[in-house]
Amino acid sequence: MLLKKDPSKKITILTCYDFPTARALDNSDIDIIFVGDSVGTNVLGYRSEIEVTMSDMIHHLKAVRKGVTQKILMVDMPYSSYNDIHSALANAKQLKQKGADIIKLEGGKEISSIVSEIVKNNIPVMAHIGFMPQLAKQEKRAVVGALAVEAKKLYKDALALQAAGACSIVFECVPEDIAKEISTRLTIPTIGIGSGKYTDGQVLVFTDVVGWYNMPYRFVKRYDTFYERTIAAANSFKLDVNSGEYPQRNHGFRIKAEEFKEFRRELS
Ligand code: KIV
Repeated sequence: MLLKKDPSKKITILTCYDFPTARALDNSDIDIIFVGDSVGTNVLGYRSEIEVTMSDMIHHLKAVRKGVTQKILMVDMPYSSYNDIHSALANAKQLKQKGADIIKLEGGKEISSIVSEIVKNNIPVMAHIGFMPQLAKQEKRAVVGALAVEAKKLYKDALALQAAGACSIVFECVPEDIAKEISTRLTIPTIGIGSGKYTDGQVLVFTDVVGWYNMPYRFVKRYDTFYERTIAAANSFKLDVNSGEYPQRNHGFRIKAEEFKEFRRELS
């Protein structure tokens, strides 16, 4: 089994979109490195996940794959890439062939036959329910499951996805109590984002975690200040260049004295 439901060991997942970050995360204690379709809004400047294409995902997957040698590598199937079983399978196979160990897709019971077909073809699938950015298009993140009827649907979706063979399910923006209740009734691990502490693991967006953005969602914990530190580093570079502090002799290359003399003779 690729992922285990183990109350003593939570599964941790961070998104990753490029080679240098992949190298660093591969040497961290994170369990899964994830090329999310959030690459669109976080890296490509798109307005929503629905602009992300298969070729965007493959481009970033290839870069990340080169940096991941130890960890599990998961990739999102982008919007419109799994509209029917035939295209879903073809696209999932393509992502697997480019290096994905697990593929993730959004949807409940209605996509269970797609999940089951992909799993039958030996491609592990992580499902994603609750708030689903692809389906929500450009709508702001909102809680899903705060009404009993919605929570019941989430439970039914989770059971259908588990029965279809999903190896895990992401709950996004689901109330903590509901995430906990459903989680304890499933045999596969659940991964939360904005869904409280009782899921079997947590996923966050790397650029939020390191503080590339000033106003992350309320469920994000900002562990660093990359945005501010990038501006500070750029400003220090400019100051050093203007003051002559950079570059120093050891940053450059030298020519032998006689070669230089000859060069000057040539000039004159
Ligand atoms: O693409 C992504 O970042 C995601 C997370 C929100 C789970 O799907």
